[in-house]
Amino acid sequence: MSLNGAPPMQPPETHDLSRRDFLVLGTSTVASAAVTSDMPAQEAPAAASTQDAAAPATAKASFQVNGMPCDLELDTRTTLLDALREHLHLTGSKKGCDQGQCGACTVIVNGRRINSCLTLAVMQQGSEVTTIEGLGTPEDMHPLQSAFVKCDGYQCGYCTAGQICSAVAMLDEIKAGIPSHVTEDLTQAPQLTPPELRERMSGNLCRCGAYSNIFDAINEVAGGQA
Ligand code: FES
Ligand code: FES
Repeated sequence: MSLNGAPPMQPPETHDLSRRDFLVLGTSTVASAAVTSDMPAQEAPAAASTQDAAAPATAKASFQVNGMPCDLELDTRTTLLDALREHLHLTGSKKGCDQGQCGACTVIVNGRRINSCLTLAVMQQGSEVTTIEGLGTPEDMHPLQSAFVKCDGYQCGYCTAGQICSAVAMLDEIKAGIPSHVTEDLTQAPQLTPPELRERMSGNLCRCGAYSNIFDAINEVAGGQA
């Protein structure tokens, strides 16, 4: 008992390890570390299943392209443009902006022109898709392809496939009486005036600025109405 009645402080415990004790302790420490390093390996199956969960979902996409049936198994995030270019190797349709602003990827789906970078391939089940490759061949060109050559309607040619697909569908829209933003009289069938032509082709940009020749080519095929 100390003078103030508190129990006396004990001296700190001393460890007097022999060389043998030290080696035994070291061995057990290494064994413990080995068990710890084994742990990730034991967790590997769980990690693999997490990876499986992150694997992309795929689905069948069946449609016709230029009259040929196509059955693809695709990542559901694949755009129609990538399906055409990367899976079917139809590289005529171009990827410009990949966000619906340039029109280089324009193709015709069920008679309507669309930006193929903005639609998923799996959304086109049963659709009929026409690309520039389906409009004509070098030996047997579509009238618009011939007119683009004759009127020098391209320079680098990057926008040309989209321009021609767009123009083909646009002329059909005029024939079907579909009005545009600049159609003045909605009670009359629209005519291919210069403002109509420019407005209807405004979704197809040409970085080379070949617009006046593109205009001439389309106008020639339309019978010089504009
Ligand atoms: Fe589709 Fe530009 S690539 S609109
Ligand atoms: Fe070059 Fe149109 S011809 S982008």
